[in-house]
Amino acid sequence: MKIEVLPDAAALAQRAADAICAAVGAKPSAVLGLPTGATPIEAYAELTRRAAAGEADFSRATAFAVDEFAAASRDAPGTNAAFFARHLRLPLAALRVPRADAPDPDAEIRAFADEVRRAGGMDLCVLGIGVNGHIAFNEPDSARASRARAVELRAESRAAHAAAFGSLDAVPRIGMTLGIADILEARAILVLASGARKAAIVARAVEGDACADVPASWLREHPGVTWMLDEAAASGLTRR
Ligand code: PGA
Repeated sequence: MKIEVLPDAAALAQRAADAICAAVGAKPSAVLGLPTGATPIEAYAELTRRAAAGEADFSRATAFAVDEFAAASRDAPGTNAAFFARHLRLPLAALRVPRADAPDPDAEIRAFADEVRRAGGMDLCVLGIGVNGHIAFNEPDSARASRARAVELRAESRAAHAAAFGSLDAVPRIGMTLGIADILEARAILVLASGARKAAIVARAVEGDACADVPASWLREHPGVTWMLDEAAASGLTRR
């Protein structure tokens, strides 16, 4: 595993954009897995800027969201589809997001994972990490072998999206996520974390044993993982 520590969130966004551009530069038809959340917003803005300026070309790349809310109406403001429409204004070959209003969320996300495989699998899966250690919507107690599935969202995960949905009550209780095993099939993985509130969980994920309590710790079992952290998120690490 590689750990890159950047001085602050702005530098982290630039480096993350560099890494994503490098993946697409090396393979223009790259398949990307992409997260939502506050952390990647600045990196996505930078990708959008680079594409508009002609500095990067995503026109042959395909992006798959790593998760989505379920049992939500398609025009709910807090869905991941709405997030990408707002923050990732890239001329991609395709941006695929599971349908938040799918009648059978479990079937929807399993078909979605099949689609990722049919596209050739992810060349680069970008992830955030939740304060509870989740990656995508793989909440604590997610097994190493877990596959794409509908999941019950934890209170802390729902709370993080209350503002985007307008209120906590409006946040769906069910999500759809690629599983840990699906994520570990990506050829490379990039995890982004910034801010002091992530320091303790980053340290557990990076330095603790791999276990279901901290789903991000399963990433230790992948040979091509890079953790990109700002100083605050790295401040709990004992080894650098
Ligand atoms: P955040 O979310 O970027 O908003 O902190 C990360 C996550 O929950 O995966």
